[in-house]
Amino acid sequence: MRIYEAKDYQEMSRKAANILSAQIILKPDCVLGLATGSSPIGTYDQLVEWYDKGDLDFSEVRTVNLDEYKGLDRENDQSYYYFMHKHLFDRVNIIPENTYVPDGTEPDSGKECARYEELIRSMGGVDIQLLGLGHNGHIGFNEPDSSFARTTHCVDLTESTIEANKRFFASADDVPRQAYTMGIGTIMRAKKILLIVSGEAKAEILARAFFGPVTPEVPASILQFHSDVVLVADSAALSKFSR
Ligand code: F6R
Repeated sequence: MRIYEAKDYQEMSRKAANILSAQIILKPDCVLGLATGSSPIGTYDQLVEWYDKGDLDFSEVRTVNLDEYKGLDRENDQSYYYFMHKHLFDRVNIIPENTYVPDGTEPDSGKECARYEELIRSMGGVDIQLLGLGHNGHIGFNEPDSSFARTTHCVDLTESTIEANKRFFASADDVPRQAYTMGIGTIMRAKKILLIVSGEAKAEILARAFFGPVTPEVPASILQFHSDVVLVADSAALSKFSR
């Protein structure tokens, strides 16, 4: 595993964007696995800046997102589809048909998850998967005690995730209770993983994920077994790492 320490969120974002840009330049028709949340916003802003300068071309890039709330449609401003268009897709020359997010409006979980998993497979797999880290160690919506083997599936969100995400909704009652997510098995099949982590509030869980035992209690700990992981974190997030 390679660890890059950044001094703050902005530097973390620039470094992560550098790594994603390198992927796009080396393989213009690459498959990017993307994430939502507060961690990647600066990374997307940086990619857009380089696109605006003419340094990046997304015309052949394909993307698959990690997850989506079940029950939210694309127009809902809390859907991850909406987030991705707002922060990245609508700001660069990516072809909308080349971007994929699980369909939160499909009520049949088995059908949607099988379709999404097959879609990723048919694209040849994910070249680089961008991940954020949940306060409870989740990746995607794979909450503690998820099976490491699972592929895309429907999850019941934990109270701590509902609590963490309620800031985006009118109230905790409005946060959807379920989501479709790539499973840990899906994530682990990505050829490369790029994990970005910022802030002191994540320091302890980050140290547990990378220096603690590999256990379903900390879903991100499985990344210790991936052969190509890059962690880009700011100093605050790395403050509990023993050097
Ligand atoms: C987002 C996702 C989540 C977030 C995680 C961290 O698509 O799958 O696992 O990456 O909850 O969220 P932030 O970045 O908001 O702290």
